[in-house]
Amino acid sequence: MSKVAVIGAGYVGLTTAACLADLGNDVMVVDIAEQKIADLKRNRVPFYEPGLAELVERNTKAGRLTFTTSYRDAVPGAEYAIIAVSTPEGEGGEADLSYVEAAAGAIADAMDGPIVVVNKSTVPPLTGDMVSKVLQKRNTRHAAAVVSNPEFLREGSAIQDFMHPDRVVVGSHDRAAAEKVARLYAPLGAPVLVTPNIYTAEMVKYASNAFLATRISFINEIARISERVGADAKLVAEGMGLDKRIGPFYLDAGIGYGGSCFPKDVAALAAVAEGFAYHPELLHAVMDINRDQRMLVIDKLRDCLDELPGRTIGLLGLSFKRRGGRPRPRHRVERVSPARHGADQAADAPADHHRRAQHLRPRADAGPGFHLPRHWPRITPNPGPSSRAGPASSAPTSARRFSTAAFASWRWTTSSRARRTTSSTCRAIPTSSCAGRTSITGPS
Ligand SMILES: NC(=O)c1ccc[n+]([C@@H]2O[C@H](COP(=O)([O-])OP(=O)(O)OC[C@H]3O[C@@H](n4cnc5c(N)ncnc54)[C@H](O)[C@@H]3O)[C@@H](O)[C@H]2O)c1
Repeated sequence: MSKVAVIGAGYVGLTTAACLADLGNDVMVVDIAEQKIADLKRNRVPFYEPGLAELVERNTKAGRLTFTTSYRDAVPGAEYAIIAVSTPEGEGGEADLSYVEAAAGAIADAMDGPIVVVNKSTVPPLTGDMVSKVLQKRNTRHAAAVVSNPEFLREGSAIQDFMHPDRVVVGSHDRAAAEKVARLYAPLGAPVLVTPNIYTAEMVKYASNAFLATRISFINEIARISERVGADAKLVAEGMGLDKRIGPFYLDAGIGYGGSCFPKDVAALAAVAEGFAYHPELLHAVMDINRDQRMLVIDKLRDCLDELPGRTIGLLGLSFKRRGGRPRPRHRVERVSPARHGADQAADAPADHHRRAQHLRPRADAGPGFHLPRHWPRITPNPGPSSRAGPASSAPTSARRFSTAAFASWRWTTSSRARRTTSSTCRAIPTSSCAGRTSITGPS
């Protein structure tokens, strides 16, 4: 079994560390966030991920998993240093690689022998070369091979995804180093793709995320067209998804993609292409559709409530994933916010995690007209079928009278048929009857 240093105790780093420890490796996690490490040393996992706390506790007790803020504790003697630090979106859409660069520099300063540096952070092609240069420049005594090993786990099912991956991708200019990293995953029995250079492995991750985002923007465009021609977008997606060549995944029309990865990764891939003097037309269309899709929420709310000033709007589903605990907004809240359109807004994470939405309070309170309720009222289903369909201006007075509405941002049906027939599409607190006035539906 191997000695592994994992750099970064976030979703990817901690999951990787706990799983590799559970596979029998000796793993030390290093993070610059002192509080996070202090919490982990006391067996407190700083975010909720199903099964992770138990895995951390079991492996900590077994002595296979330890935590530190010092690279000098973690790196000397390690065969692998796995970089899993954040790569946020930079100002021009490009990936901000400063955390990766800092991690590479710190590994170089601490290493006391040859080491394989594994890049698990999502990074654009050529980042591996940058990491190699930093290592070579900062440590001339010992050799370090750099391997790209992108991570495909999803928050909410991180452990399952790590332990049962569809595939493991490793790539390096140094084939032996790539195969050494592949051996870490051998107990999983997953298909392993070893790419002959590092750029290919780096590109697999970006291409995968961009493709999934493209499917989402595609179905949202289909939904907009469906709405206009009287087709039921949900059934259109279902009909498409039954085709084995297409499959059902990532074909839910809704408010577009969000979360911590797709927006930044699509933007970063587009920035990479532009950097090579290629204009990625499709990627730009995907981003444009996604941006515009958010405004449909406002249009549909106006449809339901006529006017937004003075209304209180509840947002369900702000947290990133249904079973995830971290209320990472699916979209930047302020951008999609009805508050920008004059309404008060209440926000909530998915129903089973709504207490955690309180973490959003400081941010929410900072925005005008945006608040979180201290006591989230029970959301009752709409009492009955819609009495009508038609333009907002002729909405029944009962629909307009209620100033408090809540909707869930998971998915919606956009067909005109849904507009005519849906009975629970717009929910009011405590009860209301603006059903049929919008086609936004609750979590499924
Ligand atoms: N979250 C996901 O679902 C997911 C899935 C696949 C890939 N990724 C990618 O993995 C990477 C990490 O994502 P995440 O969600 O785990 O991020 P995160 O923000 O949850 O965690 C990053 C951690 O790195 C630490 N860190 C930053 N700089 C450091 C340094 N120099 N030394 C040591 N620690 C440092 C931070 O304190 C933080 O704890 C990103 O590139 C992301 O795009 C994320």
